[in-house]
Amino acid sequence: MAERNSNDARDAKVFALYEQLVEIEERLIPTGLHVFGRTSSAGEKIDLLKMIASFDRPEAGVRALPENLVDEAVREFVRAGADAAVRSLEQKGLSAEETLPVFTLLQTISEKLQTNNELDSLVRALRGEFIEPGPGADIIQNPDILPTGRNTYAINPYGVPSAAAFARSEAVANSLLDRYRQENGRYPEAMALVLWGLDNIKTQGEGVAQALWLLGTRPVRDALNRTTNVEAIPLAQLGRPRIDVVMTVSGIFRDLFSPTVQLLDKAVRLVAQLDEPLESNYVRKHVLQQVEQEACNLDDAAVRVFSNAPGNYGTNVNFMVMDSKWEREETLGDLFVTRKCFAYGRDSKGRAIEGREARVAMDRALARVEATYQNIDTFEIGLTDVDHYFEYLGGVSKAVEKRAKSRPAIYLSDTLSRDVKIRTLEETVRLETRAKTLNPKWYEGMLKHGFRGVAEIENHVSNTFGWSATADAVDDWIYSEVANTFLFDETMLERLRELNPHSAHSLAQRLLEANGRGYWDVDESVLEKLRDISRSLEDQLEGVA
Ligand code: BEZ
Ligand code: MG
Repeated sequence: MAERNSNDARDAKVFALYEQLVEIEERLIPTGLHVFGRTSSAGEKIDLLKMIASFDRPEAGVRALPENLVDEAVREFVRAGADAAVRSLEQKGLSAEETLPVFTLLQTISEKLQTNNELDSLVRALRGEFIEPGPGADIIQNPDILPTGRNTYAINPYGVPSAAAFARSEAVANSLLDRYRQENGRYPEAMALVLWGLDNIKTQGEGVAQALWLLGTRPVRDALNRTTNVEAIPLAQLGRPRIDVVMTVSGIFRDLFSPTVQLLDKAVRLVAQLDEPLESNYVRKHVLQQVEQEACNLDDAAVRVFSNAPGNYGTNVNFMVMDSKWEREETLGDLFVTRKCFAYGRDSKGRAIEGREARVAMDRALARVEATYQNIDTFEIGLTDVDHYFEYLGGVSKAVEKRAKSRPAIYLSDTLSRDVKIRTLEETVRLETRAKTLNPKWYEGMLKHGFRGVAEIENHVSNTFGWSATADAVDDWIYSEVANTFLFDETMLERLRELNPHSAHSLAQRLLEANGRGYWDVDESVLEKLRDISRSLEDQLEGVA
């Protein structure tokens, strides 16, 4: 019996390891930068078409291809055309009736991928001529964005969240709460969400819909079909407590989605006023507590939508980290609050709150937060590709840590996969590192771009460092492997030196900073080697100058 248990345990471990490897292997990554005016390569085209064929597209009457057949079928399609692909699937028992619509769609997309109007349109724009408009979206979620090189239009904010986005978001909100419950044995009473403008354009409001679900509300359309109201989902139907949600929205979101900001604020205020048991309505619980303990009014206690001051954008946390101009980590969280403590919405008398400074209200709201979260809806840009994820999600998490006197659980979703996946920040950083920064397929793709490619590698390492600074979410091995891959491998170091010694030097410096700030525990001999490399790069740069 004992032996069987230990065998079972071993099998479970092997299986978990296998699942992790498959996850990394299947992760779609950009293998190089987009070159303006150039169409996709054959390999990129296959990867994209596979993803596109992996999702049901009711709007086009298309069912997703079965997971185990997508790869083969799409390769056959690219090699020999739609008819051949349909026939090959027929042999596997899938009817032509079922599969033809997929390949008809792939055919259209494939042709559009070969069209690129970017240079033409740029020149026409410079001449002041008309540019055909096209929707802005993620290519996999909405292939109608093709061909590229059109005048991107956003969406109607009154259409957000779309019915599809709202429906899809229920499972995401539930998975998020399940994940927290698995780890903590209960629901989080309050969460902080980051909402971005472009993401909510691309997904027609998935992030917004997730916030509404957490609160236990649904959007309501008016006689003009505009989403201007919300209603509460009854507790019996919801089957769980309503979560208190603090929303920190980007300046772009605030500008593009003004009606949506009002909607979110309305949802919080509606929930705060429901006559429900406090253990099932954490918004009401917290608002009443605050009114009682601090003698503040209900209006002030129910502020939950925060952004920059009108006309201002960004948190500046990224700039502070990149410039290494900070001493204590809590400064990063404080900066986040300083930039983002402006409240938006409407008070109970219907008066607009348009960017009123509300630092105390934000401090109070963040002090209750137990988990922070951001929706990731694209494979094109991830946690370490840009500095905006750590400035927002990292910034708010660091702000929570000081105010709640405890580090929140930090989650990200991956709503692009077939099944909704919620990962912790640490898991996502590991996955991104393995799938991108340390993946030869990724960095060789970057290095083809020469100077800019090395800068991208260095950016990835610095963005990873941003997750140490704001959330202590980076394992030691990650820095060790970055050093081994890019600096301690002599051939690689020579290549970086040739292509871009500035970025190679910054990379070495960033690793030394990671150690200096206590994020990377490593032998003195390794540091000595790094210092040598850094010095020799400095010498080279001085020689150049
Ligand atoms: C936004 O779409 O809201 C956004 C874009 C880039 C950085 C931060 C926010
Ligand atoms: Mg550590």
